[in-house]
Amino acid sequence: MASLLAAAGVSALAGTAEAASTLGAAAAEKGRYFGTAVAANHLGESPYVSTLDTEFNSVTPENEMKWDALESTRNSFNFGAADQIVNHARSRGMAVRGHTLVWHSQLPGWVGGLGAADLRSAMNNHINQVMGHYKGKIHSWDVVNEAFQDGSSGARRSSPFQDKLGNGFIEEAFRTARAADPAAKLCYNDYNTDGVNAKSTAVYNMVKDFKARGVPIDCVGFQSHFNSASPVPGDFRANLQRFADLGVDVQITELDIEGSGTSQATSYTNAVNACLAVSRCTGITVWGVTDKYSWRASGTPLLFDGNYNKKPAYNAVLTALGGSGSGGGGGSAACTVSYSRTDEWSDRFNGKVTVTAGSSAISTWTTTVTVTSPQKISSTWNGSPTWDSSGNVMTMKPNGNGSLAAGASTSFGFTVMKNGNASAPTVGSCTAS
Ligand code: G3I
Repeated sequence: MASLLAAAGVSALAGTAEAASTLGAAAAEKGRYFGTAVAANHLGESPYVSTLDTEFNSVTPENEMKWDALESTRNSFNFGAADQIVNHARSRGMAVRGHTLVWHSQLPGWVGGLGAADLRSAMNNHINQVMGHYKGKIHSWDVVNEAFQDGSSGARRSSPFQDKLGNGFIEEAFRTARAADPAAKLCYNDYNTDGVNAKSTAVYNMVKDFKARGVPIDCVGFQSHFNSASPVPGDFRANLQRFADLGVDVQITELDIEGSGTSQATSYTNAVNACLAVSRCTGITVWGVTDKYSWRASGTPLLFDGNYNKKPAYNAVLTALGGSGSGGGGGSAACTVSYSRTDEWSDRFNGKVTVTAGSSAISTWTTTVTVTSPQKISSTWNGSPTWDSSGNVMTMKPNGNGSLAAGASTSFGFTVMKNGNASAPTVGSCTAS
């Protein structure tokens, strides 16, 4: 396991209590990495960066290594934003997953316009140039992404690569990738393949065929985007295990689970446990640091809320990884807050803050709401406010609604007089006891 981590660029961490109080450190003690998708344009935001640097030890560029970002014009490569992420990660000892070389989406128009022979050479050139640029810096590459159709057909998805080069494009991409960076793990990555189903079985059969014929493949990525319509499957572990039994590593590559409170936390526990139960499951990546920048932000699918507070799901993941838990045991009272604008008129708007208890029951909570002068809060409900001397910072405590069961929520509201400024207030972090 130590060698796997070393290969992933994750430094081995001593088994101290401190080391296991973050996701990355707790995962490292289990011989795995814990990563997140990162967007280069948030690297200037200090709570984003401090959460990233504290909690995670692997990163995946969310969009910056896709074909449209790197080679929007043929054979003219722009590595700027991707380099920013790779440099940030490597200077802090984090591993980097490469995402993704050959994918039907975020593909510049010129690629689709090529004839077969030209397309083949453009695909191989793209793999060679990109993997060459990052040679030795990427622990695993998603060489081919989402090449299979959803549903029961088990067929390949239509794409310029599939339609012009046929099934063989996947094999060709992997052979080119192996030669371009022999040290990188080469993964096939897809979604809706997390449980045993027709699509995952089609991928399974491809991997089995590749292994039988010596086509280079080292790992399979399971994106793991879940919500109520597509929950964490009961046979997630069994599915990961059947792939591992083919002789490949498996990785959870884009984990996010829509929801909130204890039910979201339980789903995260189940997903993490599925990986931990499979010795060849080498790491987990969540698809973003904070709910506010998620590709499906309205589903609040991640481990940190929009104010970078740890959610119950965070505590659940840390606990599943064997970490020391929030607050270091006994007093694990915690809460999170979220804000929404519920009404608006020309001169004022109403705001609502929802307070949600963490994975333990709480008896009281406190948070702050800061407005921008000359805005003024003119009334409040469902809370007991106090004010700082400027009148801009309101500290809110409960008014009969302090006692919350684990994962339960309450809310308070207020009216902001705009006085010419309609911007949203800043809601501070939530503390509980
Ligand atoms: O950067 C531009 C911005 O300049 C422009 O104003 C704005 C208006 O449309 O678009 C911005 O680009 C968006 C980009 O995300 C960055 O935010 C694209 O439109 C948008 O399509 C793109 O979405 C990404 C999506 O892949 C594209 O398919 C998501 O961020 C990214 O999370 C998502 O990630 C995928 C994985 O790569 C593969 N698996 C599924 C996963 C979720 O869809």
